[in-house]
Amino acid sequence: MGERLFDPVKSDKLEDPQRVHWLPSSAVLGRMGVERGWTIADVGAGTGYFARPLAEAVGPEGRVLAIDVQREMLARLLVKLAETEAPSNILPLPGDADALPIADDACDALLLANLWHELENGPKVAREARRVVRPGGRMAVLDWEPVEPPPGPPLDHRVSADAARDVLAAAGWVPSAPSRVGPYSWLLLAD
Ligand SMILES: C[S@@+](CC[C@H](N)C(=O)[O-])C[C@H]1O[C@@H](n2cnc3c(N)ncnc32)[C@H](O)[C@@H]1O
Repeated sequence: MGERLFDPVKSDKLEDPQRVHWLPSSAVLGRMGVERGWTIADVGAGTGYFARPLAEAVGPEGRVLAIDVQREMLARLLVKLAETEAPSNILPLPGDADALPIADDACDALLLANLWHELENGPKVAREARRVVRPGGRMAVLDWEPVEPPPGPPLDHRVSADAARDVLAAAGWVPSAPSRVGPYSWLLLAD
C-alpha cells in the first residue's frame, strides 16, 4: 500500500459536521446528473459520505457499490451505515480501484471522491473505470485543489485537475472542463 493511503484512524474527519458546508454532496450528485434506478460504484467509499446520499438519489430500484481497498475502512463504513440507518441499497465491497469486483458495463456511473491523490496507478484506474461503466455512462472524479492545506492531504500529494483530465482522456474518456466544488475541491465529469 502506498504512503498516501488514507489512515483509518482519521476517519472521523470524513464525517466532520463542517464538511457538509465546504464539500456538499448535493453539489457533486447534482452535477453528476444521478438518476433513479442507476447502479453507481463509489470507489474509495470511506465511511460512505457520498454513498449514503447516492443511495437516496438512485432510490430502492438502484444501488450503490461502496468499494474500499482497506478492510478497516469497510468496517467503519458498516458501523456508519447502521448508525445512520442508511438505505439498504448500499453494497459494501472490498476491492481495489485498479481491479474492481464488478462485471463489464455493470455501472451507470462511477465516483472517485478524494481518492485520486492516493492512487498509485491513475491510468490503470481510469481504464478499469472504462471497463465497468456502460457505454454512455459517466465517471466523476473529485479531489483536492493543489493549494496549501489544511484541511486535506499534504500539498505534495495533491494532483491538479488538468493532470487528472489528461489521464482520463488517455483512457478513452471524454472529460469536461474541471469545475470547483466548495473552496478546496475540483470536479471532473467524463463521458
Ligand atoms: C480520503 S478517503 C475518501 C473517502 C470518501 N470517498 C469521502 O470522500 O468521504 C479515501 C478512501 O479511499 C480508499 N482507497 C485508497 N486507495 C484505494 C484503492 N486503490 N482502491 C479502493 N479504495 C482505495 C481509502 O481506504 C479511503 O477509505
